[in-house]
Amino acid sequence: MVSILDKHQILEKNATLLLLGSLLVVSIGGIVEIAPLFYLQNTIERVEGMRPYTPLELAGRNIYVREGCYLCHSQMIRPFRDEVERYGHYSLAAESMYDHPFQWGSKRTGPDLARVGGRYSNEWHVQHLSNPRAVVPESIMPTYAFLKDRDVTVKDIGMDLKANEDVGVPYTDDMLANAEADMRAQADPGADTTALLKRYPKAKVGDFDGNPTRLTEMDALVAYLQMLGTLVDFSTYDDATGYR
Ligand code: HEC
Repeated sequence: MVSILDKHQILEKNATLLLLGSLLVVSIGGIVEIAPLFYLQNTIERVEGMRPYTPLELAGRNIYVREGCYLCHSQMIRPFRDEVERYGHYSLAAESMYDHPFQWGSKRTGPDLARVGGRYSNEWHVQHLSNPRAVVPESIMPTYAFLKDRDVTVKDIGMDLKANEDVGVPYTDDMLANAEADMRAQADPGADTTALLKRYPKAKVGDFDGNPTRLTEMDALVAYLQMLGTLVDFSTYDDATGYR
């Protein structure tokens, strides 16, 4: 009886046939992976709570990008037990859908920051950014104390929101019109933040950098860090269906 191995010799001894056979097998694998995507409306799960960044958070994010924080920090918790136990629920696609560009990063010299929001106080962040060794003696993170002395630029933030809107972030006309006022109000302990919180639910308000008289880059960066990972309401999210 001719065994299957003997038959396989025909393929192995004929380069052209082997190539055609390989192509066939590889394309089956490819189709199985790719074809379902044609029938999916959307690969981003539906979640509750995601909203565009407040003007102050967006300004903080710009500083995060400018300073290259992504070179040492990722914002992408992978679905592995060790990561989930350390950082919290793995990152969802929905959580970076308003990111232009995304900040997943490719290397962790420091920890992942995707859910660092609310983990420390504002004071801790200001101290840590000013001199990481003051709170974590063995830290190799650079110091960013100068952020406390630099006023954050308010006047261009409306254009920044508009640019994000142009690439699909759902900023409303109301948000665009109030960009500068919202940016100032978020870090001003004396401001009326009712309208701001209506536009941007769950936004953290108040003075961030310990100096209520100035709106600094430290205010913006800390506001951004305190928001990270806090938007999606996981009590209404189910891993299997996207709903609960
Ligand atoms: C040279 C690499 C490097 C760069 C650049 C860097 N960090 Fe870090 N970061 C670290 C390391 C290492 C740690 C862990 C030790 C510590 O807490 O300081 C850390 C810790 C942190 C933490 C605490 C995280 C936690 O869960 O405990 C925050 C927040 C943070 N960094 C923010 C930033 C921000 C914002 C920037 C950019 C302004 C930045 N880092 C730039 C290396 C870096």
